[in-house]
Amino acid sequence: MKIAITGANSSVGLNLLAHIASETNISVIAGVRSEKAIKSLPESAQIEPRIISYADATTLAAALQGADCVVHLAGILIESPHTSYASANVDATATVVAAAQQIKARHLVFISVVGASPDSSNAYFKSKAMAEELVSSSGLSTTIIRTPILLGADTAGSNAIINAASAAKTKILGGGYYSMRPLDIDDLNKAILHCCTQQLAGASLHELVGPEPVSYRQLIQRTAKLMGKSVEIGSVPIWLAKLLAAITSRIKAGGMTPTVIEVITTDEVVASNADKALGITLTPLLITLKKILEHKKNT
Ligand SMILES: NC(=O)c1ccc[n+]([C@@H]2O[C@H](COP(=O)([O-])OP(=O)(O)OC[C@H]3O[C@@H](n4cnc5c(N)ncnc54)[C@H](OP(=O)(O)O)[C@@H]3O)[C@@H](O)[C@H]2O)c1
Repeated sequence: MKIAITGANSSVGLNLLAHIASETNISVIAGVRSEKAIKSLPESAQIEPRIISYADATTLAAALQGADCVVHLAGILIESPHTSYASANVDATATVVAAAQQIKARHLVFISVVGASPDSSNAYFKSKAMAEELVSSSGLSTTIIRTPILLGADTAGSNAIINAASAAKTKILGGGYYSMRPLDIDDLNKAILHCCTQQLAGASLHELVGPEPVSYRQLIQRTAKLMGKSVEIGSVPIWLAKLLAAITSRIKAGGMTPTVIEVITTDEVVASNADKALGITLTPLLITLKKILEHKKNT
């Protein structure tokens, strides 16, 4: 089977490529946007790195030609002067959907986020819902997986937790009392490969979260304990953080915005977990935390 991955240099993409390296019957078109990104990809006979653009579906289709399954990972939470929710989350998805239609892909997998909703007043959650709609109405066989904060080698979430846990004192948004369902990135990628292999007909949407609800505060405390440290956790009022972010993000045209702060501090709640439906066994949170610390020690 041949899988085409967009955003192959993302943290999820690099981990997915590592999973595929142990599957002898899968080859990959690893789509990235630059030469620099190509250098970050592992070298393997199974991986064909390709520079792709999301400007035009026909050109993208030519680059993805031959793929049975397309895994669309490109997407952002933090906007910058170079990229916005509209371009990275919505327009890029529209181009990927059109390209997948042109190559008659047998399946398309899209990674969304827990909390995505077309009615959301939050621009990030709304953009992911708009992308979901493009995928599910494509007429292709598709799977959308909504995920919570992802923990794994060099995910933004893991790096933030380890940084906070490494300090003697730290201040976090609202004291970190919001509830999270951290998901091991290995579990997500096993689920993605399950979807690529099964290629179930129709459009399905799943919410896949980790095994244990935990507050962000507890996540930091547990990580610190595993590092043999203790961390004093203080609070930055969320309203104040949003006010400062509103000012700095105007100056920088991106970065930490009130929208991002709202995403980070929203409770991650799902009605039903898709682990069984997606053919995986969830990794216990303790094991995931040990894995991310082990990775950090070795890098
Ligand atoms: N990490 C999480 O905790 C989490 C949680 C929920 C959902 N997700 C979703 O999972 C997917 C992968 O996340 P990640 O954290 O692994 O991503 P990441 O490491 O932040 O990488 C982002 C990817 O998106 C690409 N990108 C940025 N702007 C783009 C644009 N305008 N057009 C096309 N591509 C663009 C980047 O390419 P360049 O390197 O060329 O900029 C890169 O490949 C994303 O869709 C994300 O929304 C992640």
